[in-house]
Amino acid sequence: MSGVIVRPTTVDDEKFLWAMLFEASHARDQGMANPDELRDVPALTRYVEGWGRPGDIGVVGGMDGVLLGAAWVRVFDAEESGYGFVADGIPELAIGVAPESRGFGIGTTVLSALLDTLRPLYPGVSLSVRLENPARKLYERLGFVDVPDSEHRNRAGSTSVTMYTVFDAD
Ligand SMILES: CC(C)(COP(=O)(O)OP(=O)(O)OC[C@H]1O[C@@H](n2cnc3c(N)ncnc32)[C@H](O)[C@@H]1OP(=O)(O)O)[C@@H](O)C(=O)NCCC(=O)NCCS
Repeated sequence: MSGVIVRPTTVDDEKFLWAMLFEASHARDQGMANPDELRDVPALTRYVEGWGRPGDIGVVGGMDGVLLGAAWVRVFDAEESGYGFVADGIPELAIGVAPESRGFGIGTTVLSALLDTLRPLYPGVSLSVRLENPARKLYERLGFVDVPDSEHRNRAGSTSVTMYTVFDAD
């Protein structure tokens, strides 16, 4: 989709990130009606709550002044990690695009911009994704590979896998 404008997230984007976390976590499929209900799920809350702390980096994308998608990372420690944790100090990715705006390149645009920002800062980035999620194609296209033996049960009872991308040293 041409005309997508991207910019770094600010602390004022927290509400939008909750909305995108609602999409990223497939919360609607699990009977949740709106992003406020995510606040009862600590394993999800930790991806967004208090956005703007050190290490929080994200990119939002939109058109005509309307935000349509976001990709962002947070660094967790092993005790309070996200679903795609690989190691201390490696940020975990979350990404979501508004339902009516999917399949037009917004996800690719925001994730590419985020990876460009992260490349000089970290050795790599990880994420957790359901095996059947078509988003896997997007991740593979942008350099993510499956972490061996990382399949794990997700909140919906199906199987997710951890993916990781290593940034080149040069
Ligand atoms: C995954 C997601 C962020 C991708 O954003 P997008 O703007 O739809 O992505 P793009 O248009 O750049 O398309 C990239 C890939 O996403 C996949 N995709 C396309 N439409 C999609 C849709 N409606 N739902 C899920 N993935 C889709 C395709 O496999 C596509 O890969 P391809 O171009 O190699 O065929 C977005 O579809 C989304 O929010 N999905 C639901 C939430 C989710 O699954 N988040 C990831 C959790 S790990």
